Amino acid sequence: MSVTSSGSATYSDALEGSNAKRGLWSSRFAFILAATGSAVGLGNIWKFPYVTGENGGGAFVLVYLLCIAVVGIPIMMAEVMIGRRGGRSPVNSIRLITERDRLKPAWKLVGAIGVLAGFLILSFYSVIGGWAISYVGTTASGQLAGQSAEAVGAIFSGLLSNPSTLLLWHTVFMALVMVVVARGVRSGLERAVSILMPALFVLLLLVVGYAMTTGHFGQAAAFLFQPDFSKLTTSGVLVALGHAFFTLSLGMAVMMAYGSYLPKKISIAKTSITVSVIDTGVALLAGLAIFPIVFANGLEPGAGPGLIFQTLPLAFGQMPMGTLFGTLFFVLLIFAAWTSGISLLEPIVEWLEEQKGMNRTISTIAAGGVCWALGIASVLSLNLWADVAPLGFIPMLEGKTIFDLLDFFTANILLPLGGLLVALFAGWVMSRQAMENELSLSPTMFNLWFITVRFVTPVAVAIVFIYNLM
Ligand code: PHE
Repeated sequence: MSVTSSGSATYSDALEGSNAKRGLWSSRFAFILAATGSAVGLGNIWKFPYVTGENGGGAFVLVYLLCIAVVGIPIMMAEVMIGRRGGRSPVNSIRLITERDRLKPAWKLVGAIGVLAGFLILSFYSVIGGWAISYVGTTASGQLAGQSAEAVGAIFSGLLSNPSTLLLWHTVFMALVMVVVARGVRSGLERAVSILMPALFVLLLLVVGYAMTTGHFGQAAAFLFQPDFSKLTTSGVLVALGHAFFTLSLGMAVMMAYGSYLPKKISIAKTSITVSVIDTGVALLAGLAIFPIVFANGLEPGAGPGLIFQTLPLAFGQMPMGTLFGTLFFVLLIFAAWTSGISLLEPIVEWLEEQKGMNRTISTIAAGGVCWALGIASVLSLNLWADVAPLGFIPMLEGKTIFDLLDFFTANILLPLGGLLVALFAGWVMSRQAMENELSLSPTMFNLWFITVRFVTPVAVAIVFIYNLM
């Protein structure tokens, strides 16, 4: 039963032995913390409000919620299951399973997409994480107090127009991520998330409470939850689908990597649902925090990636103790982004360790360094290269900067593609017996899940892709 191409490791080693060797999560709670730490991030607090604003609100939110339920949760279960089954980094987990089940090595592609998406996403993610770091200083210094919308907008454009400041904070963010990853999963990551996540919830609730009492809450709730389908476009559906993948950290094997540390007796379904519900809850809370402020100040919901940086500081400038709350909020945002950034780098580092035999420190420096260098392109596309649209000749990508393209290509193409492969892998390739064992669901629930990954998800992703190509 030995798996030749990965040395002397045997399949049962991979199933029973390696988890023990690599150190399991100490509990179901620890896994939920880490998976939630990955899922909840800039996607929820920065991206969800702005893509919702750009795509007209309610109808977009409904499609997004549908994507989470019908595509996201089943795929998360599939990823966690494949990871735990293989007990290795994503690339090796897939390879172990395929070789064991004598299936085509082409499925390695799933892990490869994960590594590629990790590089590309982290490169621009770190730049936005840098915005959050920079805003801690902006807020704490009290310069937002009593400012007008124009002044707040000018502070934000001022930041974007300054490549060296952006580069500095991008570097700091990347360094934060690399420090935790270099220390290894157990000592670094698990401890970090168990402190950061609960703090995040409390701070977010605080901002919602403020928005509820002072902003245009009713109007915001109507904007978010009253679907107006005339505002929904085909590309809006693609963005909703892509965002469901992005926000749940799916399609790039992150949950696979984390699943490889999950003890056998823990329910994959319950854990995946818990993580997805928390993630969705945080996004909706973020929407409820931001849109009352948007409407109360007559701001533009479709303002784009700068939305939270142009609206929240305004509120913090007006509310009592706004300097304190504002500072706390951006600290919160850094924490959320940090735990997600860690999960973007982790699979790449594991891959380098296993595949290239590098030690953790060296592979962290190598992978983090490449992401950092790539991030410079995003930094420049916010200022010096703001008018450079490398793929502008394609109608759909007209006017998109390198930064926009990285976001579009990863969230809307690469992640759904990775997710599609995971669905096909679980739905058509893996042994049903093995999956029944891993998931240990009732026969009805198993069939429901199986039909979803086998048919519903691939068809849904294919339809959205094809419609957008036309
Ligand atoms: N889910 C994270 C967020 O919402 C981003 C992310 C995507 C993290 C993919 C890991 C993998 O911010």
